[in-house]
Parts: sequence; C-alpha cells; structure tokens
Amino acid sequence: MVGTKIDGKVIAQTVKDRVKKAVEELKTQGINPCLATILVGDNPASATYVRNKHTACDEIGIITKDHKLDVNISQKQLDEIIENLNNDSSVHGILVQLPLPEQLDEFATTSRISPLKDVDGLTPHNTGLLAMKKAVLVACTPSGIMEMFDYHEIDLDGKNIVLINRSNLVGKPLYHLLLEKNATIVTCHSRTKNLTDLCQAADIIITAVGNRNKFTLTPKMIKEGAIVIDVAISRFQEKLVGDSDFDEIIQKASFATPVPGGVGPMTVAILLKNTITAASLSTQIGRQF
Ligand code: GUN
Repeated sequence: MVGTKIDGKVIAQTVKDRVKKAVEELKTQGINPCLATILVGDNPASATYVRNKHTACDEIGIITKDHKLDVNISQKQLDEIIENLNNDSSVHGILVQLPLPEQLDEFATTSRISPLKDVDGLTPHNTGLLAMKKAVLVACTPSGIMEMFDYHEIDLDGKNIVLINRSNLVGKPLYHLLLEKNATIVTCHSRTKNLTDLCQAADIIITAVGNRNKFTLTPKMIKEGAIVIDVAISRFQEKLVGDSDFDEIIQKASFATPVPGGVGPMTVAILLKNTITAASLSTQIGRQF
C-alpha cells in the first residue's frame, strides 16, 4: 500500500484563508488583531519559529509586537513585561516562545498570561477548560493535528491511538482532544516498556520524540494501513527529520505527514486562528473562529 500524504502546507492555507476573512471582518468593526511575542535569548531554532510566526501574521494582516529579551533576564522582569501586555488593550494575543532559559520557570511564566490572551492555551485556566470539554483557546500543535484529521475526514471514533509524547504543549492537550472524539488513547513516553507492541496494534500513531539517536518509528513498528502523524522536527545527519522517514513509512501507512511540511505549518496557522479568537474575545462579540 502507498498511502496519502497529509500535506500540512495545503491544509494550513485553508485555515489561513478562513482567518484572513475573519481579520477583515474584525477590522471593519474597528478591531486590529495584534499578537505580541516574547523570545528570551538567542536559541536559533526558537528565533526561526518566532520569525515564521511573524511572517504568517504579516501575510494575513495581524499586527505583531516583537519582544526579544536578554538571555539573562530575571523572572521578575519577565513577569512585568507580561503584565504590561496583559494590560495593553491593543494586544490580543501573547506568546512566550518555549523553551525558556534555566533561570526562568515555564509554568510561572505561562500562568501569568491573561487566559483571554493565551493563544498557546497553556494557562491553568485554559488547560482546565480543555479537560472539561469547554476549551476556547487550545494549544496550537494539537489543534492543528485535529484540523488535519478533519480535512481528510478521518473518523477517530473507537480508534486505538498511540500518542508518543506527554508534554504540556503536545501530548496532554492532544489526549483531551482525541478523547472528545471517542478515541482510545495510550500515552507513551521514555519509560514505556512495550512501545513496539503498542505501535503495532495502533490504528493511529502520533509521535513527537524529536531525537533520532534515541528513537525512530520504522515501518516494521506499524501495522498495514495505520495512520502516522509525525510531530517531531530535529536535525539529524545534516537534515531536518521527524521521528519517521516519510518515504518509507508511506509505503505501509494509509496516511502520513511529511517533515518538514506536515504538522509545522499547522501550528503556525492555528496560532493565527487563536489570535483572532482572542481579538474577538476582547469585544462583546466574543466569537470562536
Ligand atoms: N515551542 C515549540 N512549540 C511551541 C509552541 O507551540 N508555543 C510556544 N510558546 N513555544 C513553543
């Protein structure tokens, strides 16, 4: 079997087209959607991700405010910057690019963001709403993966899904979104003992390890016709790779995402969508897009 490529660039464009229309609509009501980003330090990968987010905002008419902070900034200084953005009515969304340098506490930092401006869906308020099936702003990568399933009309009801990631950004929010669709989910991690057996039994595998020296999802590890969503992106042998090799896995999978060009563009598109949802929440209209 040669499966179907799930093309993140194409699907992301459909989301961006929707968002662009919504931006125009909001502007007619006097609302200029604005995203503020905070990048601490000079991690090259993080700098690239933030640059891509700004470019995407520019393309569809979302204003950006860029905060590049010294790597040695204190928690108190960072908290003050977030507080100012919380109180700035011209800013609708706030994104603190992760990971943060060691002296900063990720939970303390993301928890400071106003839940109404939390375009990453990382505050305790928004993660709690997600667990209660009442989410408004949901983490971008998990939400983007759900858009991919929708686009290809992949029914998750009763499916056995192996999720190889337990992070706050990917695994945990995705678990809740998949559960809402009546999937049966096994969340795996570095201590999981029988990972190959679990993968071989899965209808869908969503993998986000990002370390090829430790883990590769090979065709032998999946069953014929399985669906593979590869969230990882890392540099390995001079190339950008996921946890699997797309050209090999697609020979056996019914659907698979490439890396790059798979989940990555979806993360950015959903960030735009969340920003206009946040802009709308700042008004009486309070609409989700
Ligand atoms: N670092 C990697 N992915 C993300 C993301 O989706 N949001 C933030 N804030 N940081 C990240």
